[in-house]
Amino acid sequence: MNTREMFKRAVAGGYAIPAFNFNTMEQMQAIVMAAVETKSPVIMQVSKGARNYANGTILRYMAEGAVAYAKELGCEHPEIVLHLDHGDSFELCKECIDNGFSSVMIDGSSLPYEENIALAKKVVDYAHQFDVTVEAELGVLAGVEDEVAAAESHYTKPEEVIDFSTRTGCDSLAISIGTSHGAHKFTPEQCTLVNGVLVPPPLAFDILHEIEKKLPGFPIVLHGSSSVPMEEVNTINQYGGHLEAAIGIPEEQLREASKSAVCKINIDSDSRLAMTAAIRKHLAEHPGDFDPRQYLKPARENMKKMYIHKIVNVLGSDGKLAQC
Ligand code: 13P
Repeated sequence: MNTREMFKRAVAGGYAIPAFNFNTMEQMQAIVMAAVETKSPVIMQVSKGARNYANGTILRYMAEGAVAYAKELGCEHPEIVLHLDHGDSFELCKECIDNGFSSVMIDGSSLPYEENIALAKKVVDYAHQFDVTVEAELGVLAGVEDEVAAAESHYTKPEEVIDFSTRTGCDSLAISIGTSHGAHKFTPEQCTLVNGVLVPPPLAFDILHEIEKKLPGFPIVLHGSSSVPMEEVNTINQYGGHLEAAIGIPEEQLREASKSAVCKINIDSDSRLAMTAAIRKHLAEHPGDFDPRQYLKPARENMKKMYIHKIVNVLGSDGKLAQC
């Protein structure tokens, strides 16, 4: 399904839909198990890097398999969106639309304003013929994610959002208010030490609220919203990894954002951390294991636990299926 009805309900209900990236079968299974157990709608998103890694066709059929799997797990009416994350050209968006994606993002945020509008409008005009919804972006997020990288963030300018959304016809808008991609969102120098924990600067809620006032009820998207849980980072480091100064967005801030017009929250790095932590721990404790199923099973379990935690305790999308 596309995101239209899902977002309408999320904005009205004061919760956000999880948008989890997936590259592997284990991530897909964990996402579906978590969504079914919590009766949550879910967006499964595929980046350009995921398509390069796993092949776009395989991922598309995995998403079809996800719907069938959810039904097999007892959810008669699952709500699953297959979304292209950070599409960087009309051609890539078109290819995904032609191949059964129900939602695409066109990310023209690094382009000059008028070019961003022209590109987004071209994708919207094509996508809407097939009832595919389109996310566009205004403002730039810092950080590195697959092939998307920016050194500095530029907050979204609230004075541009009405013009941008009207002229592009986009269905949702990704904004920049201080989140960023990856597991290293802030340097320790940018943070304040509170009870031995590095607390990053707060998100720019004033900008979010200004945007909400200008576009009442319009679906807003937050990228770069992993929290980088300390326990996963510590496990990785305890079992031979070397992750320094990994800092994410505090979950309380995402909980607060979910209650606003923010109706889609993107999480990728936390899944990577959960998977890697479980695999490192398993292999360190069972040095004789060499069957991938032996270490991928606890990895899948750990990701599922993390997805359920996000759905129930952070985004509040549990129990929000229109029909169970
Ligand atoms: P994280 O790196 O914070 O998980 O962000 C993922 C994302 O925004 C995908 O588009």
